[in-house]
Amino acid sequence: MAKTKRRYICQACGSVSHRWQGQCPDCAEWNTLVEDTPASVFSQKHDLSSGGRRIEFVPLDVPGKALKRQTTGLNELDRALGGGLVPGSAILMGGDPGIGKSTLLLQASAAIARSGREVVYVSGEEASGQVRMRAERLGYKDAPIRLASATSVRDILTTLHAMEPPALLVIDSIQTMHSDTIEGAPGTVSQVRGCAFELIRYAKQSGAALILVGHVTKDGTIAGPRVLEHMVDVVMSFEGERSHQYRILRALKNRFGAVDEIGVFAMAGQGLEEVPNPSMLFLSGREEPMAGSAIFPAIEGTRPVLIEIQALIVRLQSGATPRRAVVGWDTGRLAMLLAVLESRCGLNFSTAEVYLNVSGGYRLSDPAADLAVAAALVSALADKPLAARSVWLGEVSLAGEVRPVAHAGLRMKEAAKLGFDQGFGPPECGQGVSGIHCEELSILPKLVDRIVASE
Ligand code: TYD
Ligand code: MG
Repeated sequence: MAKTKRRYICQACGSVSHRWQGQCPDCAEWNTLVEDTPASVFSQKHDLSSGGRRIEFVPLDVPGKALKRQTTGLNELDRALGGGLVPGSAILMGGDPGIGKSTLLLQASAAIARSGREVVYVSGEEASGQVRMRAERLGYKDAPIRLASATSVRDILTTLHAMEPPALLVIDSIQTMHSDTIEGAPGTVSQVRGCAFELIRYAKQSGAALILVGHVTKDGTIAGPRVLEHMVDVVMSFEGERSHQYRILRALKNRFGAVDEIGVFAMAGQGLEEVPNPSMLFLSGREEPMAGSAIFPAIEGTRPVLIEIQALIVRLQSGATPRRAVVGWDTGRLAMLLAVLESRCGLNFSTAEVYLNVSGGYRLSDPAADLAVAAALVSALADKPLAARSVWLGEVSLAGEVRPVAHAGLRMKEAAKLGFDQGFGPPECGQGVSGIHCEELSILPKLVDRIVASE
């Protein structure tokens, strides 16, 4: 008989090593490798003579079996899901603890239940009484949700098999579930994976849509559940700063739709409110132009969103190493822009502390924001406000060129609609756009001239 090899599974990312190490070679987490007995299915060969069942081939085009999406009753959630819940699909909802996942799912469950469809909400984290109290506070006391507090997947599945499949099954959270067929404490990779596998199989067989809540670790990955990402159909991430009101729901993976739409919510005293028109959300609302502030026309899915970028430059008297601090943008990208501004435009940031903030708790990843960040930095350095009601758009290369970006026309048009009358961007950014005066900046030194020369 072949010798069984030892193997160790990282509890954070699920990667397999053949010897124990203090640090996972894949995700670099410490003390996460745990020995695992290899399942016999991986080491045994199939004995074909014992006879498997024949699988059935079906044509791609089965009449009358079109994907039917079901609305959740929350438009912003439907939008992020790509148009609603697909029956039989498995959705992983990730997010920091306390960001509002349970609140969001309770609200969606209540709306679905009120529309006459069956919803089962299983909480492994809170007692039923706690969930009921929250529902009462949110005004959903009368919603006919089937609510349970349970952590045993066997109990949950036994109960579900004895009833009509619900339209939606919510498991809050997958890290609290455990299956008695698998070794290990709840929350370990093998438990999380095993429980999810059984629940997903139920969803596929019964046609119930399944939402698994998964907590996220500090470095932004869905803990343990990262191993679930390939098992589920949709991976959603609920983001935002807990100290800010706004929450963004984003699809990171979606087998049934696009991943570029977001849902926007505001956390209020009465739970999460939908924000159907977020374009002005991230502006500070200040009328007077201020040095160091630039407006960037971002695009989220199909919706333009205007975002304010603020820079602050503090000159240091002593020879101490100056700080660079960034909220809502990439630190490496700021370092790159500062280097380009120094070497291509002759500006000097080396003795100054640089602070950059994207307002409203928004996180920018679009390279098209480069020009707006550069404009904010130059404006702060020169202590000159940018033109009132202006927007800035373009990617900056290491050579200091301002490069074209996607949807420039759409972004400029949206800015015009919201009362902005000047747009600065790469060549051809103003093509076919009316209602806003577009000025082309092909290289970064032109931006500096524009700001420093302005009155
Ligand atoms: P919760 O849904 O429990 O977060 P998660 O399930 O992601 O851990 O949300 C908890 C936070 O939301 C809590 O800190 C308070 C806030 N909150 C409100 O501000 N208003 C409300 O109406 C509710 C229900 C929660
Ligand atoms: Mg919760």
